[in-house]
Amino acid sequence: MTFKRVRHQLYRQWRTLLLEDNAIRRYNPAKFKSLTFSINFKERPKPMAIQRTFSIIKPDATRRNITGKIIAKLEDAGLRVVASKRVKWEKADAEKFYAVHAERPFFNDLVAFMTSGPVVLQVLEGENAIALNRETMGATNPEEAAEGTIRKEFAESLEANSVHGSDSEENAAIEIAQCFTEAEIVG
Ligand code: CMP
Repeated sequence: MTFKRVRHQLYRQWRTLLLEDNAIRRYNPAKFKSLTFSINFKERPKPMAIQRTFSIIKPDATRRNITGKIIAKLEDAGLRVVASKRVKWEKADAEKFYAVHAERPFFNDLVAFMTSGPVVLQVLEGENAIALNRETMGATNPEEAAEGTIRKEFAESLEANSVHGSDSEENAAIEIAQCFTEAEIVG
């Protein structure tokens, strides 16, 4: 099709729409109002934000060789693994990561547990990834976790609860930066 022909067709389509628009406006003002209302951009549902969140598969899960089962649950929920590494944390790594809990009575046990075996560190990406990951993990205490969640299905205890996930955008950015360089994250 030539350029002129395409232009002509576009012009005809535009003119038809304009005529329909004017006709509705003239003969049925109420309908015109409801039409313009429905195409008002402000009324359209906002697309959800694509976020990144940080995830750890903890030593109780690496020990039982169930990292694949956990990742499958995350992927089935709509999350995409855009960075991943299996490492053994030193005491200083765990202390830095959980510094926010330094004053809590469970801190030393938590650090000992997180350094007791390998962990799988991941960056997950997706729509509303932070909330979606937390929903997929379930409550911190597996006894309170909903059916079908990772913690309900796999966690051994409050401490050995198989996974960690960032609780806010701010913490996700801090946790990701502690464990990955930008070059290691491939979306
Ligand atoms: P996580 O989401 O990794 O964040 C902090 C971790 O501390 C938590 O999961 C639990 O595994 C662990 N923890 C141990 N005892 C407690 C407790 N009493 N309350 C909350 N978290 C605890």
